[in-house]
Amino acid sequence: MVAAATLAEEILDVKARRRAIILAHHYQEAEIQELADSVGDSLELARIAKKFDGEVIAFCGVRFMAETAKVLNPERIVVVPDIHAGCSLVESCSAESVRAFKRRNPDHVIVSYINTSVEVKAESDILCTSRNAIAVVNSIPADKPILFLPDINLGNYVQKQTGRKNMKIWQGACIVHATFPARRLAAARAEHPSALVAAHPECPRDVLRMADFIGSTSAIIDWCTKQNADEFIVMTESGVRYSLEKLAPQKKFYFVANENCNCSECPYMKLNSLEKLLACLENLEPRIELPSAIMERALVPLERMLAVR
Ligand code: 13P
Ligand code: SF4
Repeated sequence: MVAAATLAEEILDVKARRRAIILAHHYQEAEIQELADSVGDSLELARIAKKFDGEVIAFCGVRFMAETAKVLNPERIVVVPDIHAGCSLVESCSAESVRAFKRRNPDHVIVSYINTSVEVKAESDILCTSRNAIAVVNSIPADKPILFLPDINLGNYVQKQTGRKNMKIWQGACIVHATFPARRLAAARAEHPSALVAAHPECPRDVLRMADFIGSTSAIIDWCTKQNADEFIVMTESGVRYSLEKLAPQKKFYFVANENCNCSECPYMKLNSLEKLLACLENLEPRIELPSAIMERALVPLERMLAVR
């Protein structure tokens, strides 16, 4: 096995040769985040990918994020360390089921979370991320009925925040966040009584009810580092520990294990490794290739989302 330091040097070397950028989501292993040109949540990384004018985007996250980068910047080569890095939310919602809904409900505006396949994006009117979902729903005229898909917990949270009554919500869920049990959060609070609680909106309603702050991955990091408190219970994927400890080394961060893996890690995100990152930069494979007709259709709701402030 090659030492991590040597691997890192090789990656930086091939990155320069390829005129590449490495983008990493906050849920990546620390050693990948360390090497990345930018680390961010799904919205931040989409914006960076759109502006990149080099040759190759090496996207360390999950497949739907790399597909989004390709749609926003189709001239670039987009490679991923592991093509099997999927997402349970993407799997919960097929394009055919969305088309069937649209046939039955032609009046509904389709608001899709960015955690969807490019084919579902192509069927959507507007997209959103956990960071801008409330603003996106508020941007739709009040008399228009909405289908929000595919995350039930984010959908319920957005509905509560916006007071939107004419909104149907898909039944998909994240295998990481949706299986954080409220009783384990209650036990963590009993153990750390001065800790504040920050939660991602993909968590179940009873977990969100106990949160002092609810927001996207980057919003959680930002809030925890700026709050005048020393201890936090963080209800999201434990990869965020890297940025939290880098930005606020004096603070303490506790994570709660979910009931799926008895951990707080996304198994898809953790498929990526330094070895696979080096290989995808060297080989320019696995590469994201999408039919241009689908990309053109998916770009419309993506651009609408990016125009919402
Ligand atoms: P963010 O939009 O907060 O990056 O979340 C993406 C995601 O997959 C959360 O599980
Ligand atoms: Fe998908 Fe959940 Fe993993 Fe995010 S944490 S990529 S929503 S499975």
